[in-house]
Amino acid sequence: MQVFFIGATGHIGGALLNLLVQQYPSDSFTVLVRSPLQAEQLSAKYHVPTLLGSLEDVDAILPQIKEHQIVINCGPDTPFPAQVDKILKTLEECVDKRYYIHTSGAASIWEKLGGNKEGDKVWDDIEDVDTILGFPKEIPHGTIDKLVLSSNSKTLHVAIISPGYVEGLSVTIGRKTPLTFPDMFHTIQHLGAVYTVGGGLNLMSFMHVDDLVKLYAHLFASAVQGIQDKTVFRNEEIWGPKAYFFAHGVEMSWSEWMREFIAPALKKANAKFMKDSNEIKALSANELAEIVVTRLKGMPQAEAFSNAIAQGMESSMRIRSSRALKEFGWTAGSYLGVDEAVELYLAENA
Ligand SMILES: NC(=O)c1ccc[n+]([C@@H]2O[C@H](COP(=O)([O-])OP(=O)(O)OC[C@H]3O[C@@H](n4cnc5c(N)ncnc54)[C@H](OP(=O)(O)O)[C@@H]3O)[C@@H](O)[C@H]2O)c1
Repeated sequence: MQVFFIGATGHIGGALLNLLVQQYPSDSFTVLVRSPLQAEQLSAKYHVPTLLGSLEDVDAILPQIKEHQIVINCGPDTPFPAQVDKILKTLEECVDKRYYIHTSGAASIWEKLGGNKEGDKVWDDIEDVDTILGFPKEIPHGTIDKLVLSSNSKTLHVAIISPGYVEGLSVTIGRKTPLTFPDMFHTIQHLGAVYTVGGGLNLMSFMHVDDLVKLYAHLFASAVQGIQDKTVFRNEEIWGPKAYFFAHGVEMSWSEWMREFIAPALKKANAKFMKDSNEIKALSANELAEIVVTRLKGMPQAEAFSNAIAQGMESSMRIRSSRALKEFGWTAGSYLGVDEAVELYLAENA
């Protein structure tokens, strides 16, 4: 099988590549990298071919993408709708079967609550799929989710995985600790304490990266089977216009996350910047955004980005993975691997 991998140096993508090269040692994985050093590290670790490039310069990589039967995208999606569209159009034109596995995010169903309510609505990826795919383009992932799932031809098969917050240590050559850590720990360090927005009652979904990548592996196995099967049959619950998979793990409030997981992990790691490990500071979303923006200074759209991060921390994100359970029997475990991820993050950023 010829597989093209975007985002394989990331927290999610790195853990997934590590799993797939073990499960499919005879398949060929071509990995898109943005630096020669990453190419060197990946080749040394997995003996995989790499391609130097980026989504910004998608035209340059389309000829290679076209040659691969399965394309996995674990890169950021919201900044790149036009580029993802080009990838899909290229795959749609192929005469043989092609599979595209896309990474989105459950930010699409965030409900802004100022941290003061749990959130009533639990979004189900089977019952609510039409509503989710009908969200306007202003909603995070709104444009691209629709774009991906409407891209089907006789030969192209598409599916989306949409995770909640992804935790734990990843075996990647790149980002080993969660994507959310830099902003969260910048804020904790600034305050000398853990924090909530409002009362931190908003419920959210957390899972270990190793559990998440097992869901990708189920989809990957289905793609492999589809390619080996020469018939045109397609299971539309797994591939096609409704193939939207929420990846849900453990539901808890932001306050519980801070109190039961982050504060004890910081204590265990003996974090010197904590003034009082029992205190939880309550902020407004604006106050939080003002702290986050000081880390992002100089970045394009720093203000919009910090507002989005604060919005994530004040919102409910309640999801159910009904599709993954029904189709693959997949559920995530309750282990989140917080202590070791916090310990490594603090050591790397000492
Ligand atoms: N982590 C979460 O909690 C979470 C939750 C919901 C959704 N998501 C979605 O999943 C994506 C991946 O998450 P993650 O935690 O694995 O993030 P990550 O660790 O930042 O990984 C992002 C990957 O995408 C690559 N990448 C970034 N910009 C690129 C570009 N312009 N062209 C090509 N590749 C590019 C990165 O390459 P470099 O190594 O060169 O930077 C890296 O391999 C996120 O961007 C988000 O859209 C994540």
